Amino acid sequence: MSDQAAPPPQVAMLQMMMGMWVSQIVSATAELRVPDLIAAGTTNLDDLAREAGANVGALQRLLRAAATLGVVAETAPRTFALTPLGETLRSDVRGSLRDLIIAETAPGHWLPWGRLAETVREGRSLSSETLGEPVWEYYAKHPEEGLSFARGMGNLSAMVSEEVAAVYNVGEAKTIVDVGGSQGALLRGVLRNAPSARGILFDRPEVIATATPDDRIEVIAGDFFTSVPKGADVYLLKSILHDWPDEKCVDILKIIHRDAAPNARLVLVEMLLTNAPGPVTFMDLNMLVMLDGRERTADEYGAMLQQAGFAVERVVPTPGLFGVIEARRQ
Ligand SMILES: C[S@@+](CC[C@H](N)C(=O)[O-])C[C@H]1O[C@@H](n2cnc3c(N)ncnc32)[C@H](O)[C@@H]1O
Repeated sequence: MSDQAAPPPQVAMLQMMMGMWVSQIVSATAELRVPDLIAAGTTNLDDLAREAGANVGALQRLLRAAATLGVVAETAPRTFALTPLGETLRSDVRGSLRDLIIAETAPGHWLPWGRLAETVREGRSLSSETLGEPVWEYYAKHPEEGLSFARGMGNLSAMVSEEVAAVYNVGEAKTIVDVGGSQGALLRGVLRNAPSARGILFDRPEVIATATPDDRIEVIAGDFFTSVPKGADVYLLKSILHDWPDEKCVDILKIIHRDAAPNARLVLVEMLLTNAPGPVTFMDLNMLVMLDGRERTADEYGAMLQQAGFAVERVVPTPGLFGVIEARRQ
């Protein structure tokens, strides 16, 4: 957009305030399955309301707002079509964002974000206080919300794993463990480039209960603060360390160091913070709000790895926001 087209600062600021509403409009549209229903051929408002189990008048108002955002288009009075933006909210498309947007706007994330200023004043996450327990336990007690988060992360990870596979090859490996691997999206991507390796998907019991093993992937439940599957030669950690403060990260890395094969490799896949402004700064705040975690620079990861007995061998950027840091057990 050119400078001339930019709205005056007060209008721009009001639009930023509405960001909160925008997130919920998009999320409700997804939760009511409007994109799936339209894709399946239901385009009339009354039919959409009946199939979504929604009030007709209220749904019309929601879709009017969703059309303002370009998520749907009203092609004739009370008749709706899906736009390319709205397609991303279908549940059955590659790279679907439906689950992630529902999880990010559900109480587990929404309530702690409502206390951002207080979080910054105190310099610590208030999510456990707000939710009554740490978010992973909250998810265990709210399985539907937990499943949206796990599926949403999985869809995102499937896309990131393609980016990773395009720039990074794990090479020779016998056993690859995906630590905190959720539904195993990254592991499946990495195994495609390592045809003779077997995979182990390792996560908390309630997450493993929803994961599907196959002939190359064994699933194991556990707690990475206690132990990880022993003796493997590659340990993947994607979007794990950013969940935790430095000292906890070093604890996790030391457990892996203790349990890994002597010459094992550890492969971190994380967003890498740089000095440039960008969306990683938002994710960094999300980590503060939710978990007392943080996004870090490649050097900061290198320093933690060194403390736990690993030496960085290479840092491989992807075309997106993520980077791959490969380290070797010393
Ligand atoms: C942000 S998600 C990342 C999931 C996956 N690696 C990905 O990128 O799609 C963090 C994962 O860590 C798992 N996790 C959290 N605490 C854990 C623990 N103590 N032991 C094992 N897994 C844990 C969560 O269940 C969740 O699947």
